[in-house]
Amino acid sequence: MNNFHKTKKSAAVLKHAILDQYATPFASKTGKTSLDHRVAFIDGYAGPGRYEDGEEGSGAMLLRKARDMAHFPRQVECHFVEDDEATVERLREVAAAEGAGVEYTIDDGDISTHLPKLLKSAEGIPLFTYLDPCGLPIPLDEVASIFDRPSGPGAPATEVLINLTAHLRRFGGMLHSATPVEASLRRIDAVCGGEWWRNAWLEKCPTKNASEDEKMAAEEAVVVGYAKQLRSRAGGAGTWIIDVRPRADLKPVYYLIFATRYIDGMVTFGDSASLGLEAWRKYLAKVAADGTLFGDDDAWEADWKEQEKILKTQWVDMLADRLSGELEKGETFCIIERPKVLGDLAGVVRTLHFRAAINKVLKEGKTTTDPKGAKDLWRLPLKPA
Ligand SMILES: C[S@@+](CC[C@H](N)C(=O)[O-])C[C@H]1O[C@@H](n2cnc3c(N)ncnc32)[C@H](O)[C@@H]1O
Repeated sequence: MNNFHKTKKSAAVLKHAILDQYATPFASKTGKTSLDHRVAFIDGYAGPGRYEDGEEGSGAMLLRKARDMAHFPRQVECHFVEDDEATVERLREVAAAEGAGVEYTIDDGDISTHLPKLLKSAEGIPLFTYLDPCGLPIPLDEVASIFDRPSGPGAPATEVLINLTAHLRRFGGMLHSATPVEASLRRIDAVCGGEWWRNAWLEKCPTKNASEDEKMAAEEAVVVGYAKQLRSRAGGAGTWIIDVRPRADLKPVYYLIFATRYIDGMVTFGDSASLGLEAWRKYLAKVAADGTLFGDDDAWEADWKEQEKILKTQWVDMLADRLSGELEKGETFCIIERPKVLGDLAGVVRTLHFRAAINKVLKEGKTTTDPKGAKDLWRLPLKPA
């Protein structure tokens, strides 16, 4: 087993926080009306389930969700695939210890091999697939095959969360090599669903001596292009992209791409991502303070809360400005119809920020809509004053 599985790397904290936030509402909402309240999770690159330092990995977390949800009642079925022999062994031990009463399967091998069978077992019930490789994920054709299920009103939900690693940077650099490894480039072609990514990269990074900013822009263009491909290949799914940076001023270490065909999935995942990011900022604040005087007396937590307050004010002001801009047009509208209101705050803000922003424009006399008591702020008609 490699070192990765001994401790949970700090970068993993965010993806786990988001998965932790989202798995419960997904199973709870979609399993309310599903066949026998069944809901399936596929964890395609499962890892050991629990790290050697005792921290939960995705395996232990999904088993815990399945146990907790059994009372609702929801029958959460967990399917794990892991191709490293020692890691799958550890995963089996974790599942034996923590999966009592849970319907689960563990396959030893390549996710590409096992996916079709697992998709079959999830036919007719809601499905959430988590693809979290250390390197590149399965080809886009295979990701798109997950969406080869009925869609539309009444059909069980289909959602995917992919960890798209920042390794793309390394591969992008090969486009300037005099002797590129053709097989590696082809591999990315398959992952991205075509050669389009090569031009997307070269447009932002035209020379070998590109700056770091140009490389970042190229990587972002490929990630945005990937999400676009996935949206069209997955029957018009919606996507969220979350870039995961150890600190705001550092480069992303990975990108999480979430795809769903259900607007409710977008909204709920956005809220979960926002809570996950908050947990991640808290973790980073603690790590930064560890070993300092600040860390000893928990003063870091008070400081972190102050920082959060500042962020909240900034976001609410930004949202309120955008709402004012829309209200000035003189027509009643819902936030869900105006993607620009959310814009770059997608996955960052959640309902409480929207509520504060609507209250702000109400106080400023720009709307007559009072959000008090309204649960679904995305669809609340906002009337200009
Ligand atoms: C980043 S780790 C998974 C971490 C885990 N999902 C979590 O959140 O705790 C990726 C895992 O995928 C496994 N893996 C790599 N290629 C695979 C493949 N083609 N099929 C299945 N598992 C694979 C690796 O052995 C490794 O354990």
